[in-house]
Amino acid sequence: MKILLTNNDLNEALYDVSNLGFVPTMGSLHKGHISLIKKSLKECKRTIVSIFVNPTQFNNKNDFINYPRSNNKDLLILKKLKIDFLYMPRVKDIYYLKRKSSIKLREKDKILCAKVRKGHFEGVIDVIKRLTKLIKPYKVYFGEKDFQQLYLIKKYIPKKRDIKIISCKTIRDNNKLAFSSRNKLLSKNELIKARKITKQLFLLKKRLSKSKNINQLIFKKKNELINLFNIRFDYIELRNIFNLRTSNKVKNSKLFIAYYINKVRLIDNF
Ligand code: PAF
Repeated sequence: MKILLTNNDLNEALYDVSNLGFVPTMGSLHKGHISLIKKSLKECKRTIVSIFVNPTQFNNKNDFINYPRSNNKDLLILKKLKIDFLYMPRVKDIYYLKRKSSIKLREKDKILCAKVRKGHFEGVIDVIKRLTKLIKPYKVYFGEKDFQQLYLIKKYIPKKRDIKIISCKTIRDNNKLAFSSRNKLLSKNELIKARKITKQLFLLKKRLSKSKNINQLIFKKKNELINLFNIRFDYIELRNIFNLRTSNKVKNSKLFIAYYINKVRLIDNF
C-alpha cells in the first residue's frame, strides 16, 4: 500500500493507472467502509482510499472538532485489505483553487439533511468533485446508509466526467444497527438505545406496508420513541427512492430518519 500525502505523490503514483476504484472516506473506518473497499478490490484493477475529514461539509465547528479520528487503526485495516493507494491530503491539497462557480442545491433538494444541515451537501459535492478531478477514478463507491448523499452526488456530479457511481448496501451489526463512524461517539448505554430504536424502526416499516394510515402510524411511533428513549428527531419521513418526494405508499419508498441521542446525531433509512 502506497501512502500519498500530497498531490505530487498522487500524480506520480497514478500517472499510468487505469481501471481505478475509489472509496472516499473521512476515516474512522468500520465494516461499512470495508465492504465498499472489498467491492472495489473485486471490481477494479487498482483501489485507492482517501481519508480526509472535509471541513467544508460540517455546518457546526464542534461537530468537525469532535468527529472521530483513528488514523493508526485505519492504516492497519487498509494494509490488511491490501489496497493499492491511500491518499491522505492536507486541506491545501484539496482547496488550493477557489471554485469558479459555487455549488447551489436546487430548492426541491433542500429536504431532509439538506434542510437541517445548511451547506453540508454543498461541501460534500464540492469535495467529491475536487477529489475525483484529482484522482480520475473509473468507479467511486458510496454506501446507501447516506442515501441522500448518494442521490445528490449522482445528480450533481457532471455526467461528462464519465465516472461510475456505485451504490452499496448498508452494512448492519447483529442488532441491525447500521455501522457509522458516529457510533464511536456513543456510550455503551447509548449504543444499546440506538439498537433498540433501530429494531423499532424496522418494525414500523413492516407495519407501514399493511397500514392504510401511514402518516398517523409514523406520527404515533415518533412520539412513542421520543417518550421511551428521550431522543430528539430532526425528521422521520417516508420518501420515494427515485426522486425523494414525500410518499404515502411503501412501494418504492424508504423511511428516512435523523435523530439525536443526547449530542450524537444518527441517520438511517429503511
Ligand atoms: O460519507 C462520507 O464519509 C463523506 O461525506 C465523504 C463522501 C467521504 C465526503 O467527504
